[in-house]
Amino acid sequence: MNGKQAAGERALDYIEDGMVVGLGTGSTVFYFLQALSKKVAEGLQVTGVVTSIQTAKLAEELNIPLMDLNDVKVIDVCVDGADEIYTESGHIYGIKGGGGALLFEKLVAETAKMRIWIADDAKVVSHLGAFGLPVEVVQFGYMQVFQQLTAKGYAPKQRLNEDDTPYTTDSGNYLLDLQFEPITDPISLSTELKMMTGVVEHGLFNDITEVTIIADATGSAMVTEI
Ligand code: A5P
Repeated sequence: MNGKQAAGERALDYIEDGMVVGLGTGSTVFYFLQALSKKVAEGLQVTGVVTSIQTAKLAEELNIPLMDLNDVKVIDVCVDGADEIYTESGHIYGIKGGGGALLFEKLVAETAKMRIWIADDAKVVSHLGAFGLPVEVVQFGYMQVFQQLTAKGYAPKQRLNEDDTPYTTDSGNYLLDLQFEPITDPISLSTELKMMTGVVEHGLFNDITEVTIIADATGSAMVTEI
């Protein structure tokens, strides 16, 4: 048992028969999907809405029934990981997109009635920003956005594949990872980035979750609900 596994399995407490469940992306969600799949095999009826091609493949392998986001009226609960989690005065902020799925993750999360983040305790931070902030940009003219971000002092780095070709998201966009230390005002930074032409989405998730399940290496999980 590790923290990611413990957090992923604990999220099952929130899943009830008949629910439509947003399925996040990443190595922590992997454990949630494994646990959910066992329950489905035992008779639990749920329908998943995926946040990435990676999760779609895994869910199909695990025989979790899926539905397209376009066909969904409501998502009861969305379970996802995070790269950084910062809590202040009853607000939960986070950075997501380390796995490149931030756009679909935000779309699915914003459709859900309840959002749960599962993570090991290494993801909890005293301020956001040590993890590069992913910004998804359209390919056309992306160097113009890159230069604007550089001029703002945000030190963008284009995400690359192992072979040094540009990383592309499931939507065919590029990712620029911004360097901050720290992010002092995630709300205004979110607005600023959203206003930039060519930016499709960014990885700041401000107040887009109500529950965090954080587990340590012993498997002990702490659940916070706001
Ligand atoms: C995917 O784009 C991300 O937002 C992931 O949810 C996040 O990076 C957490 O991933 P791990 O659970 O693999 O750490």
